[in-house]
Amino acid sequence: MLANTNIHIKHFKDQISGSSTIQSLPNSYHSLRAPEVSQTSSRMLSKGKMPIAREIMVGLDDEAAKVIRRLVRGSKQVEIVPIVGMAGLGKTTLAKKVYNDSSVTCYFHIRLWCTVSQEFNMKNVLLQILCSDGKHSRKDEELKKLNENELLEKLRQRLLKNRYLVVFDDVWDIEVWNELRIAFPNDENGSRIIFTSRFSNVASEVQYGGEPHKIRHLTVKESFKLLQKKLFGEEEECPQALHGLGMEIAEKCWGLPLALVVVAGVLATKEHDILVWEKFAESLTSTMVSGTDQCKKSLELSYEHLPYHLKECLLYFAAFREDEKIGAKKLMRLWIAEGFVEIIEGEKSEDVAEKYLMDLIGRNLVMVFL
Ligand SMILES: Nc1ncnc2c1ncn2[C@@H]1O[C@H](COP(=O)(O)OP(=O)(O)OP(=O)(O)O)[C@@H](O)[C@H]1O
Ligand SMILES: [Mg+2]
Repeated sequence: MLANTNIHIKHFKDQISGSSTIQSLPNSYHSLRAPEVSQTSSRMLSKGKMPIAREIMVGLDDEAAKVIRRLVRGSKQVEIVPIVGMAGLGKTTLAKKVYNDSSVTCYFHIRLWCTVSQEFNMKNVLLQILCSDGKHSRKDEELKKLNENELLEKLRQRLLKNRYLVVFDDVWDIEVWNELRIAFPNDENGSRIIFTSRFSNVASEVQYGGEPHKIRHLTVKESFKLLQKKLFGEEEECPQALHGLGMEIAEKCWGLPLALVVVAGVLATKEHDILVWEKFAESLTSTMVSGTDQCKKSLELSYEHLPYHLKECLLYFAAFREDEKIGAKKLMRLWIAEGFVEIIEGEKSEDVAEKYLMDLIGRNLVMVFL
């Protein structure tokens, strides 16, 4: 099935080769990330964590419309709507946009948000959910004194008979849902739960699990628009003379918003000059983008989460040229030859290798070109 498929990996090259052209980012860049939904926020219990869609956004209208349709129409049963895609593709951004859309805010009686992250703590997740609508501001301290079961019951009581939307941002382990499920009643009133995750099959085997919404990459035009807005703001436009180069730079970001944001952060430190941009466009490679702090941090998480045999397979991409498209069949044969593929009695090595590849694809760590 994968024999004629080309696999393309961009983001791990820096970790593999260790070489990175961009060492750190200007401070202004760091402020581009929405603080209210950052990874660290999951460990803090602060008010005002509810996501507010005030950032610059491009190209998400069609995606948002599709997700919103699933939220406000369809089955009356509770449904989990997973928003999935690779690191930095805009899952959290899309979830925020949907969460704050007026058709959603007026449809659901209750909307709650929590950031789960890789090492989740059940009590913290529950407290985040219970405190996320701001109504409990004075009761936060009391809630903190309750144990997990009491918090689960509080949440269940709160959701009971209400049409609710709860967002679980950045889900890595379905265990979080298995433990929380009893707090989510099914009153057949169209309640919905959004999971954002890098894993395509995150909710495939759980109760209420729906089809994943696979978020798309931005088109070159949208990428340029994002780059332009990040660099020149909403009002100003990119000077005509830099248009072509801007498009070239945008194209090299593979439609990945995080890469565009990172590149915009670096370009912002450079002169708006044709020669400077030309040089930058020429030198821009995936290694350069993924070598930046934010990309590294984001990708390290995915890497650390891999089982050992998949780490080996992923690192093997370093043997190829950067941005090279690799035939799936060839790649799997090489893995087998290198001894990365476990020999399992009664199973063909090719089939085991294909499972490995499907696993990496399911984790959205490689890009597939059909
Ligand atoms: N459509 C978009 N328009 C403008 N900026 C975007 C868009 N999508 C994402 N971004 C920006 O790209 C960066 C990464 O987006 P986001 O955090 O939503 O990705 P993610 O898929 O949730 O990543 P992760 O897997 O690490 O959680 C953020 O700075 C965000 O503001
Ligand atoms: Mg996210």
